[in-house]
Amino acid sequence: MMKNLNLEAIRAEFPALNADAIYLDNAGGSQVLRRVADRIHDYLLTTSVQLGASYAASVAASEKVLSARRAVAELINANHDEEVVMGGSTTGLMFLLTQAILPGIREGDEIIVTNSDHEANIGGWMRLQTAGAVIKVWKVNRDSLQLELADLDALLTPRTKWLAMTHASNVLGTINSVAEVAKRVHAVGARLCVDGVAYAPHRLVDVQASGADVYVFSFYKVFGPHYAVLWGKRDFLLSLPSLNHHFITADILPYKLQPGNVNFELSYGCIGIAEYLTHVGKSLDANPTMTNRQQMQTAFDAFAQHEDMLAEKLLAYLREKTNVKIIGLADVKNGNRMPTISFVLKDQPSEKIVRHMDRLKIGIRFGDFYAKHLINALGLTEQGGVVRVSIAHYNTVDEIDRLIRGLDEVIR
Ligand SMILES: Cc1ncc(COP(=O)(O)O)c(C=O)c1O
Repeated sequence: MMKNLNLEAIRAEFPALNADAIYLDNAGGSQVLRRVADRIHDYLLTTSVQLGASYAASVAASEKVLSARRAVAELINANHDEEVVMGGSTTGLMFLLTQAILPGIREGDEIIVTNSDHEANIGGWMRLQTAGAVIKVWKVNRDSLQLELADLDALLTPRTKWLAMTHASNVLGTINSVAEVAKRVHAVGARLCVDGVAYAPHRLVDVQASGADVYVFSFYKVFGPHYAVLWGKRDFLLSLPSLNHHFITADILPYKLQPGNVNFELSYGCIGIAEYLTHVGKSLDANPTMTNRQQMQTAFDAFAQHEDMLAEKLLAYLREKTNVKIIGLADVKNGNRMPTISFVLKDQPSEKIVRHMDRLKIGIRFGDFYAKHLINALGLTEQGGVVRVSIAHYNTVDEIDRLIRGLDEVIR
């Protein structure tokens, strides 16, 4: 039997949760760990010097930034820390990636994107059309709201070079079977690029098990700063041209893909995320033989159990309402969906519900969440998109109860 999270101890790690407000817009951005903020503060006030010099402060700073890369490599289960490229945002890193891929594109190369992704994993790929790439779209089945493998099979050809997809939808909450997709993509000699932004706050990322060639997500959704990581298989990253100065040659990983270098203090701050996860894992299971990743896994197992319980509470309420349509799977079974719950109210603009919740100091939001193709395909643009409630592991039963009481004042 898995131990429950000690929510009091968990919430004490996030100073912002002391405010008189309920944060249920976590898929937009999570609250930040004190451990992360402390590290950023420490870096800036003790080692803010340029890296790579021989004096003591520079040596210490270089070690801090390198240790951050190692910590992120462990957090995502990279084979090698040179596979870890850090940058400002997922969107920025995706543009960087597609820019590096561009010179290798030949007329008629096929690239598959989905219509359920955030634009971050679509726009850069679309731009490769200027080099002759042909874009195909893997569409969500309108009844099941899933990306069906049979539909993908019809799109894959020997000319397919890339498939770009999301691990979890930031609107539907659906988890996609990326490892299964990877097998099919690799069978035709293509590569897979996965957006893990909506997945990483809820499950322990394992880039190797994912089967992806490239995996990207942002730390500001995973209790850290506005910063992001792109992991790529070493051989693939080595095959890309350098996007840095001419003397930072194509064999210099990951620096060749970090023009202007990484943000030192934010990199260092990210160690706090890994440290928090191992700390939570240890507090749930004190077995001294566990590796850091096993401790992180223990933490995420407990997060998922707690998030499932909260999500099911809200979904059960929404299922009862005849004027509500849940946009995504209507219940939670065995971790089959993320606690990111979208819905619409019959004949009502989505904004109306959100404005009401603003007055109750409950932070949720409405819109397309930059998954514009999905919202258009589902015919929800006119309504102002969906209302989205996105839960994190630090949310409480009491918060969901207050949300439901507030919703009940508008959903009659
Ligand atoms: C699923 C998904 N992918 C990508 C992004 C973009 O991330 P960033 O803001 O770091 O560019 C977001 C942001 O909301 C997202 O939800």
